[in-house]
Amino acid sequence: MSGARHLYVHIPFCVSRCDYCDFVSLTGQRDQQARYVEVLLAELELERELLAPELDSVYLGGGTPTLLEAAALRCLLDGLPAAAELTVEANPETVTPELAGALVEAGVNRVSLGAQSFQPRLLELLGRRAGPDDVRRAFRLLREAGMENISLDLLYGIPGQSRRDLNADLGAALTLAPEHLSCYELEAKSGTRFAHEHGAELAAQSEALEDHLEHVVERLTGSGYRWYETANFARGEPGRDLRSFHNLGYWRGHDYLGIGIGAVSTLSGCRWKNAPSLPHYLEALERKARPPRETEALDEATKLRERVMLGLRLDEPVEIAEVEAALDRDALARLSDLGLVLVEGGMLTLSSRGRMLGGAVSAELIVWDAEPVLAGT
Ligand SMILES: C[S@@+](CC[C@H](N)C(=O)[O-])C[C@H]1O[C@@H](n2cnc3c(N)ncnc32)[C@H](O)[C@@H]1O
Ligand code: SF4
Repeated sequence: MSGARHLYVHIPFCVSRCDYCDFVSLTGQRDQQARYVEVLLAELELERELLAPELDSVYLGGGTPTLLEAAALRCLLDGLPAAAELTVEANPETVTPELAGALVEAGVNRVSLGAQSFQPRLLELLGRRAGPDDVRRAFRLLREAGMENISLDLLYGIPGQSRRDLNADLGAALTLAPEHLSCYELEAKSGTRFAHEHGAELAAQSEALEDHLEHVVERLTGSGYRWYETANFARGEPGRDLRSFHNLGYWRGHDYLGIGIGAVSTLSGCRWKNAPSLPHYLEALERKARPPRETEALDEATKLRERVMLGLRLDEPVEIAEVEAALDRDALARLSDLGLVLVEGGMLTLSSRGRMLGGAVSAELIVWDAEPVLAGT
Protein backbone atom coordinates (compact mmCIF):
# COMPACT_ATOMS: atom_id res chain seq x y z
CA MET A 1 0.00 0.00 0.00
CA SER A 2 1.46 3.36 -0.99
CA GLY A 3 -0.51 5.40 1.57
CA ALA A 4 -2.97 8.29 1.48
CA ARG A 5 -1.80 11.53 -0.11
CA HIS A 6 -4.48 13.68 1.55
CA LEU A 7 -4.82 14.55 5.24
CA TYR A 8 -7.84 16.25 6.85
CA VAL A 9 -7.53 17.74 10.34
CA HIS A 10 -10.72 18.69 12.18
CA ILE A 11 -10.71 21.67 14.57
CA PRO A 12 -14.13 21.73 16.24
CA PHE A 13 -14.01 24.99 18.21
CA CYS A 14 -16.45 27.81 17.33
CA VAL A 15 -17.44 31.03 19.14
CA SER A 16 -21.10 30.22 18.66
CA ARG A 17 -23.10 27.76 16.65
CA CYS A 18 -24.65 28.94 13.38
CA ASP A 19 -28.25 27.72 13.18
CA TYR A 20 -27.85 25.99 9.82
CA CYS A 21 -24.62 24.09 10.56
CA ASP A 22 -24.43 20.40 11.45
CA PHE A 23 -20.65 20.01 11.27
CA VAL A 24 -18.97 18.75 14.45
CA SER A 25 -18.43 21.95 16.42
CA LEU A 26 -18.09 22.92 20.08
CA THR A 27 -18.64 26.33 21.61
CA GLY A 28 -16.52 27.60 24.48
CA GLN A 29 -13.96 25.05 25.71
CA ARG A 30 -11.07 27.42 25.01
CA ASP A 31 -9.18 25.78 27.84
CA GLN A 32 -9.20 22.49 25.90
CA GLN A 33 -7.51 23.84 22.76
CA ALA A 34 -3.86 23.13 23.67
CA ARG A 35 -4.79 19.66 24.93
CA TYR A 36 -6.78 18.94 21.76
CA VAL A 37 -3.85 19.93 19.53
CA GLU A 38 -1.48 17.72 21.51
CA VAL A 39 -3.84 14.80 21.17
CA LEU A 40 -4.43 15.45 17.45
CA LEU A 41 -0.70 15.11 16.92
CA ALA A 42 -0.79 11.90 18.95
CA GLU A 43 -3.49 10.53 16.63
CA LEU A 44 -1.38 11.54 13.64
CA GLU A 45 1.57 9.67 15.11
CA LEU A 46 -0.55 6.54 15.59
CA GLU A 47 -1.75 6.67 11.96
CA ARG A 48 1.35 8.06 10.29
CA GLU A 49 2.16 4.84 8.48
CA LEU A 50 -1.14 5.18 6.59
CA LEU A 51 0.17 8.32 4.90
CA ALA A 52 2.30 8.40 1.77
CA PRO A 53 5.85 9.73 2.18
CA GLU A 54 4.80 12.86 0.23
CA LEU A 55 1.37 14.46 0.57
CA ASP A 56 -0.61 16.35 -2.04
CA SER A 57 -2.74 18.17 0.52
CA VAL A 58 -3.34 18.92 4.17
CA TYR A 59 -6.65 20.62 5.04
CA LEU A 60 -7.49 22.17 8.42
CA GLY A 61 -11.27 22.39 8.54
CA GLY A 62 -13.83 23.06 11.17
CA GLY A 63 -15.36 24.30 13.21
CA THR A 64 -13.11 27.32 13.18
CA PRO A 65 -9.40 26.49 12.87
CA THR A 66 -8.51 30.18 13.11
CA LEU A 67 -10.07 30.33 16.57
CA LEU A 68 -7.11 28.37 17.93
CA GLU A 69 -4.87 30.49 20.11
CA ALA A 70 -1.63 31.49 18.37
CA ALA A 71 0.58 29.04 20.31
CA ALA A 72 -1.75 26.08 19.70
CA LEU A 73 -2.11 26.88 15.99
CA ARG A 74 1.66 27.22 15.63
CA CYS A 75 2.25 23.93 17.46
CA LEU A 76 -0.25 22.17 15.20
CA LEU A 77 1.12 23.60 11.96
CA ASP A 78 4.67 22.73 13.04
CA GLY A 79 3.63 19.15 13.77
CA LEU A 80 1.83 18.44 10.49
CA PRO A 81 3.56 16.83 7.52
CA ALA A 82 4.50 19.02 4.57
CA ALA A 83 2.17 19.04 1.55
CA ALA A 84 1.99 20.76 -1.79
CA GLU A 85 -1.31 22.39 -0.76
CA LEU A 86 -1.89 23.42 2.85
CA THR A 87 -5.36 24.93 3.37
CA VAL A 88 -6.82 26.49 6.50
CA GLU A 89 -10.52 27.38 6.84
CA ALA A 90 -10.95 30.83 8.37
CA ASN A 91 -13.91 32.75 9.73
CA PRO A 92 -13.57 36.41 8.71
CA GLU A 93 -13.96 37.86 12.21
CA THR A 94 -10.97 35.83 13.45
CA VAL A 95 -8.50 37.20 10.88
CA THR A 96 -6.04 39.71 12.34
CA PRO A 97 -2.75 40.93 10.84
CA GLU A 98 -0.95 38.63 13.32
CA LEU A 99 -2.99 35.59 12.34
CA ALA A 100 -2.58 36.26 8.61
CA GLY A 101 1.19 36.68 9.06
CA ALA A 102 1.44 33.53 11.20
CA LEU A 103 -0.39 31.46 8.58
CA VAL A 104 1.91 32.59 5.79
CA GLU A 105 4.99 32.11 7.94
CA ALA A 106 3.92 28.57 8.86
CA GLY A 107 3.65 27.63 5.18
CA VAL A 108 -0.14 27.79 4.77
CA ASN A 109 -0.59 28.48 1.05
CA ARG A 110 -4.38 28.46 0.75
CA VAL A 111 -7.14 29.96 2.91
CA SER A 112 -10.83 29.20 2.58
CA LEU A 113 -12.75 32.15 3.98
CA GLY A 114 -16.39 31.67 5.00
CA ALA A 115 -18.14 34.76 3.64
CA GLN A 116 -21.56 33.13 2.95
CA SER A 117 -23.14 36.44 1.85
CA PHE A 118 -22.43 40.17 1.72
CA GLN A 119 -25.96 41.18 2.72
CA PRO A 120 -26.15 42.17 6.41
CA ARG A 121 -29.76 41.00 6.81
CA LEU A 122 -29.00 37.57 5.31
CA LEU A 123 -25.89 37.18 7.45
CA GLU A 124 -28.03 38.02 10.45
CA LEU A 125 -30.63 35.46 9.48
CA LEU A 126 -27.84 32.85 9.20
CA GLY A 127 -26.59 33.85 12.63
CA ARG A 128 -23.14 34.81 11.31
CA ARG A 129 -20.84 36.92 13.44
CA ALA A 130 -19.00 38.53 10.51
CA GLY A 131 -20.50 41.36 8.48
CA PRO A 132 -19.55 42.18 4.86
CA ASP A 133 -16.83 44.59 5.98
CA ASP A 134 -15.25 41.87 8.12
CA VAL A 135 -15.06 39.65 5.04
CA ARG A 136 -13.41 42.41 2.98
CA ARG A 137 -11.05 43.26 5.81
CA ALA A 138 -10.05 39.63 6.35
CA PHE A 139 -9.46 39.21 2.63
CA ARG A 140 -7.27 42.34 2.51
CA LEU A 141 -5.25 41.29 5.57
CA LEU A 142 -4.59 37.87 4.09
CA ARG A 143 -3.46 39.44 0.81
CA GLU A 144 -1.25 41.96 2.60
CA ALA A 145 0.38 39.10 4.49
CA GLY A 146 1.19 37.45 1.14
CA MET A 147 -1.54 34.80 0.87
CA GLU A 148 -1.74 34.12 -2.86
CA ASN A 149 -4.54 31.57 -2.93
CA ILE A 150 -7.81 32.55 -1.25
CA SER A 151 -11.16 30.85 -1.67
CA LEU A 152 -14.48 32.38 -0.64
CA ASP A 153 -17.51 30.33 0.44
CA LEU A 154 -20.91 31.70 -0.56
CA LEU A 155 -24.37 30.30 0.10
CA TYR A 156 -27.41 30.60 -2.16
CA GLY A 157 -31.01 29.77 -1.41
CA ILE A 158 -30.98 31.66 1.88
CA PRO A 159 -34.60 32.42 2.83
CA GLY A 160 -35.42 35.92 1.61
CA GLN A 161 -32.46 36.04 -0.79
CA SER A 162 -33.62 37.52 -4.09
CA ARG A 163 -31.89 37.20 -7.45
CA ARG A 164 -30.73 40.76 -6.91
CA ASP A 165 -29.16 39.78 -3.55
CA LEU A 166 -27.42 36.81 -5.16
CA ASN A 167 -26.11 39.02 -7.93
CA ALA A 168 -24.84 41.53 -5.41
CA ASP A 169 -23.06 38.72 -3.51
CA LEU A 170 -21.43 37.43 -6.68
CA GLY A 171 -20.42 40.97 -7.64
CA ALA A 172 -18.94 41.66 -4.19
CA ALA A 173 -17.01 38.37 -4.28
CA LEU A 174 -15.72 38.99 -7.80
CA THR A 175 -14.52 42.47 -6.83
CA LEU A 176 -12.13 40.77 -4.40
CA ALA A 177 -10.82 38.54 -7.24
CA PRO A 178 -10.42 35.35 -5.18
CA GLU A 179 -8.55 32.46 -6.78
CA HIS A 180 -11.42 30.12 -5.96
CA LEU A 181 -15.11 30.30 -5.09
CA SER A 182 -17.37 27.69 -3.51
CA CYS A 183 -21.08 28.41 -3.96
CA TYR A 184 -23.18 26.02 -1.93
CA GLU A 185 -26.91 25.60 -1.99
CA LEU A 186 -28.03 26.15 1.61
CA GLU A 187 -29.23 22.82 2.93
CA ALA A 188 -31.65 22.33 5.78
CA LYS A 189 -29.64 19.78 7.76
CA SER A 190 -31.98 17.65 9.80
CA GLY A 191 -31.90 18.29 13.51
CA THR A 192 -30.71 21.89 13.15
CA ARG A 193 -32.77 24.79 14.44
CA PHE A 194 -32.59 26.22 10.94
CA ALA A 195 -34.25 23.13 9.42
CA HIS A 196 -36.96 23.39 12.03
CA GLU A 197 -37.62 27.07 11.29
CA HIS A 198 -36.96 27.23 7.53
CA GLY A 199 -37.02 23.63 6.23
CA ALA A 200 -40.41 23.91 4.54
CA GLU A 201 -39.45 27.21 2.92
CA LEU A 202 -36.24 25.69 1.51
CA ALA A 203 -38.07 22.62 0.21
CA ALA A 204 -40.62 24.86 -1.56
CA GLN A 205 -37.95 26.75 -3.45
CA SER A 206 -36.14 23.75 -5.00
CA GLU A 207 -36.94 24.86 -8.58
CA ALA A 208 -35.74 28.37 -7.91
CA LEU A 209 -32.49 26.88 -6.62
CA GLU A 210 -31.80 25.24 -9.95
CA ASP A 211 -32.26 28.66 -11.51
CA HIS A 212 -29.91 30.16 -8.95
CA LEU A 213 -27.19 27.65 -9.80
CA GLU A 214 -27.60 28.37 -13.50
CA HIS A 215 -27.17 32.04 -12.76
CA VAL A 216 -24.13 31.45 -10.53
CA VAL A 217 -22.49 29.34 -13.25
CA GLU A 218 -23.21 31.90 -15.98
CA ARG A 219 -21.90 34.79 -13.95
CA LEU A 220 -18.74 33.08 -12.72
CA THR A 221 -17.77 31.34 -15.95
CA GLY A 222 -18.45 34.66 -17.70
CA SER A 223 -15.92 36.22 -15.32
CA GLY A 224 -13.16 33.75 -16.19
CA TYR A 225 -13.74 31.03 -13.57
CA ARG A 226 -13.75 27.33 -14.44
CA TRP A 227 -16.83 25.47 -13.18
CA TYR A 228 -14.80 22.40 -12.32
CA GLU A 229 -17.15 20.86 -9.75
CA THR A 230 -20.88 21.23 -9.09
CA ALA A 231 -20.34 23.91 -6.42
CA ASN A 232 -16.75 24.98 -7.09
CA PHE A 233 -15.08 27.46 -9.37
CA ALA A 234 -11.38 28.12 -9.97
CA ARG A 235 -10.05 31.32 -11.52
CA GLY A 236 -8.46 30.71 -14.91
CA GLU A 237 -4.86 31.83 -14.76
CA PRO A 238 -2.07 30.82 -17.14
CA GLY A 239 0.42 28.51 -15.47
CA ARG A 240 -1.64 28.03 -12.28
CA ASP A 241 -4.19 25.35 -11.55
CA LEU A 242 -6.32 26.90 -8.82
CA ARG A 243 -8.69 24.01 -8.14
CA SER A 244 -8.77 22.65 -4.59
CA PHE A 245 -6.46 19.64 -4.76
CA HIS A 246 -7.67 18.41 -1.42
CA ASN A 247 -11.27 18.21 -2.53
CA LEU A 248 -10.27 16.88 -5.95
CA GLY A 249 -8.81 13.94 -4.02
CA TYR A 250 -12.25 13.14 -2.53
CA TRP A 251 -14.09 13.57 -5.81
CA ARG A 252 -11.60 11.37 -7.66
CA GLY A 253 -12.06 8.64 -5.05
CA HIS A 254 -8.52 8.81 -3.67
CA ASP A 255 -7.69 7.63 -0.17
CA TYR A 256 -7.56 10.19 2.63
CA LEU A 257 -6.83 10.17 6.33
CA GLY A 258 -8.93 12.33 8.67
CA ILE A 259 -7.93 13.08 12.26
CA GLY A 260 -9.82 14.82 15.03
CA ILE A 261 -13.29 14.39 16.49
CA GLY A 262 -15.90 13.41 13.91
CA ALA A 263 -13.25 13.09 11.17
CA VAL A 264 -13.77 10.53 8.41
CA SER A 265 -11.01 8.47 6.75
CA THR A 266 -11.22 6.29 3.65
CA LEU A 267 -8.29 4.01 3.00
CA SER A 268 -7.82 0.76 1.12
CA GLY A 269 -11.55 0.02 0.91
CA CYS A 270 -12.24 0.78 4.56
CA ARG A 271 -13.99 3.86 5.98
CA TRP A 272 -14.04 4.97 9.59
CA LYS A 273 -15.46 7.95 11.43
CA ASN A 274 -14.11 9.10 14.75
CA ALA A 275 -16.81 9.59 17.39
CA PRO A 276 -17.73 13.28 17.83
CA SER A 277 -17.15 13.25 21.60
CA LEU A 278 -14.27 15.43 22.81
CA PRO A 279 -13.92 13.75 26.25
CA HIS A 280 -13.75 10.26 24.70
CA TYR A 281 -11.27 11.42 22.08
CA LEU A 282 -8.97 13.05 24.65
CA GLU A 283 -9.22 10.16 27.07
CA ALA A 284 -8.38 7.48 24.46
CA LEU A 285 -5.44 9.26 22.89
CA GLU A 286 -3.95 10.30 26.21
CA ARG A 287 -3.52 6.61 26.95
CA LYS A 288 -2.12 6.15 23.41
CA ALA A 289 -5.20 4.25 22.19
CA ARG A 290 -7.20 4.93 19.04
CA PRO A 291 -10.33 7.02 19.65
CA PRO A 292 -13.76 5.35 19.47
CA ARG A 293 -14.88 5.06 15.85
CA GLU A 294 -17.37 3.47 13.54
CA THR A 295 -15.79 1.37 10.83
CA GLU A 296 -17.29 0.17 7.57
CA ALA A 297 -15.78 -2.04 4.87
CA LEU A 298 -16.62 -0.67 1.43
CA ASP A 299 -17.57 -3.41 -1.01
CA GLU A 300 -16.74 -3.08 -4.70
CA ALA A 301 -20.30 -2.09 -5.65
CA THR A 302 -20.31 0.75 -3.11
CA LYS A 303 -16.92 1.97 -4.30
CA LEU A 304 -18.09 2.02 -7.91
CA ARG A 305 -21.29 3.89 -7.06
CA GLU A 306 -19.32 6.48 -5.12
CA ARG A 307 -16.90 6.78 -8.02
CA VAL A 308 -19.85 7.61 -10.34
CA MET A 309 -21.62 9.94 -7.88
CA LEU A 310 -18.47 11.89 -6.96
CA GLY A 311 -16.58 11.66 -10.26
CA LEU A 312 -19.47 13.07 -12.29
CA ARG A 313 -19.54 16.17 -10.09
CA LEU A 314 -16.36 17.16 -11.93
CA ASP A 315 -15.92 18.56 -15.40
CA GLU A 316 -13.44 15.77 -16.14
CA PRO A 317 -14.60 12.42 -17.52
CA VAL A 318 -15.00 9.07 -15.77
CA GLU A 319 -13.83 6.04 -17.72
CA ILE A 320 -16.84 3.84 -18.53
CA ALA A 321 -14.81 0.61 -18.28
CA GLU A 322 -13.83 1.53 -14.72
CA VAL A 323 -17.44 1.86 -13.51
CA GLU A 324 -19.19 -0.43 -16.04
CA ALA A 325 -20.52 -2.83 -13.38
CA ALA A 326 -22.38 -0.02 -11.59
CA LEU A 327 -23.91 1.55 -14.72
CA ASP A 328 -27.48 1.09 -15.88
CA ARG A 329 -27.00 0.86 -19.67
CA ASP A 330 -30.66 1.71 -20.45
CA ALA A 331 -30.50 4.80 -18.27
CA LEU A 332 -27.22 5.77 -19.92
CA ALA A 333 -28.82 5.60 -23.39
CA ARG A 334 -31.92 7.51 -22.23
CA LEU A 335 -30.00 10.26 -20.46
CA SER A 336 -27.64 10.53 -23.38
CA ASP A 337 -30.63 11.02 -25.76
CA LEU A 338 -31.89 13.73 -23.40
CA GLY A 339 -28.54 15.49 -23.68
CA LEU A 340 -27.81 15.17 -19.96
CA VAL A 341 -24.92 12.73 -20.34
CA LEU A 342 -22.06 12.81 -22.82
CA VAL A 343 -20.31 9.63 -23.96
CA GLU A 344 -17.20 9.92 -26.08
CA GLY A 345 -14.30 7.54 -26.63
CA GLY A 346 -15.30 5.32 -23.72
CA MET A 347 -15.46 8.28 -21.35
CA LEU A 348 -18.49 9.65 -19.50
CA THR A 349 -19.27 13.21 -18.38
CA LEU A 350 -22.42 15.13 -17.58
CA SER A 351 -23.45 17.93 -19.92
CA SER A 352 -23.85 21.40 -18.39
CA ARG A 353 -27.57 20.77 -18.09
CA GLY A 354 -26.89 17.40 -16.43
CA ARG A 355 -24.53 19.02 -13.94
CA MET A 356 -27.16 21.64 -13.08
CA LEU A 357 -29.46 18.83 -12.00
CA GLY A 358 -26.78 17.76 -9.56
CA GLY A 359 -26.71 14.23 -8.22
CA ALA A 360 -30.11 13.29 -9.68
CA VAL A 361 -28.68 12.41 -13.10
CA SER A 362 -25.72 10.46 -11.67
CA ALA A 363 -28.07 8.59 -9.34
CA GLU A 364 -30.22 7.55 -12.29
CA LEU A 365 -27.18 6.18 -14.10
CA ILE A 366 -26.48 3.73 -11.31
CA VAL A 367 -27.80 0.22 -10.76
CA TRP A 368 -28.64 0.49 -7.07
CA ASP A 369 -29.70 -3.08 -6.40
CA ALA A 370 -26.62 -4.71 -7.94
CA GLU A 371 -25.03 -7.54 -6.04
CA PRO A 372 -21.56 -6.62 -4.82
CA VAL A 373 -19.21 -6.96 -7.76
CA LEU A 374 -16.40 -9.40 -7.10
CA ALA A 375 -13.09 -7.89 -8.13
CA GLY A 376 -11.43 -9.80 -10.94
CA THR A 377 -14.47 -11.93 -11.86
C1 LIG B 1 -18.43 23.83 8.17
S1 LIG B 1 -18.06 25.35 7.53
C2 LIG B 1 -16.56 25.65 8.33
C3 LIG B 1 -15.97 26.97 7.97
C4 LIG B 1 -16.19 28.11 8.92
N1 LIG B 1 -16.42 27.73 10.26
C5 LIG B 1 -17.33 28.98 8.47
O1 LIG B 1 -18.37 28.96 9.09
O2 LIG B 1 -17.13 29.71 7.51
C6 LIG B 1 -17.58 25.11 5.84
C7 LIG B 1 -18.57 25.61 4.83
O3 LIG B 1 -19.66 24.74 4.78
C8 LIG B 1 -20.77 25.43 4.23
N2 LIG B 1 -21.98 25.02 4.96
C9 LIG B 1 -22.14 24.88 6.29
N3 LIG B 1 -23.42 24.50 6.56
C10 LIG B 1 -24.07 24.40 5.38
C11 LIG B 1 -25.40 24.07 5.00
N4 LIG B 1 -26.34 23.79 5.90
N5 LIG B 1 -25.71 24.07 3.67
C12 LIG B 1 -24.77 24.35 2.75
N6 LIG B 1 -23.50 24.68 3.05
C13 LIG B 1 -23.15 24.71 4.35
C14 LIG B 1 -20.51 26.93 4.44
O4 LIG B 1 -20.42 27.60 3.21
C15 LIG B 1 -19.17 26.95 5.16
O5 LIG B 1 -18.35 28.00 4.73
S1 SF4 C 1 -20.83 27.35 10.12
FE1 SF4 C 1 -18.69 27.50 10.75
S2 SF4 C 1 -18.71 28.98 12.46
FE2 SF4 C 1 -20.80 28.35 12.16
S3 SF4 C 1 -21.06 26.66 13.64
FE3 SF4 C 1 -20.51 25.74 11.64
S4 SF4 C 1 -18.36 25.50 11.70
FE4 SF4 C 1 -18.88 26.94 13.37
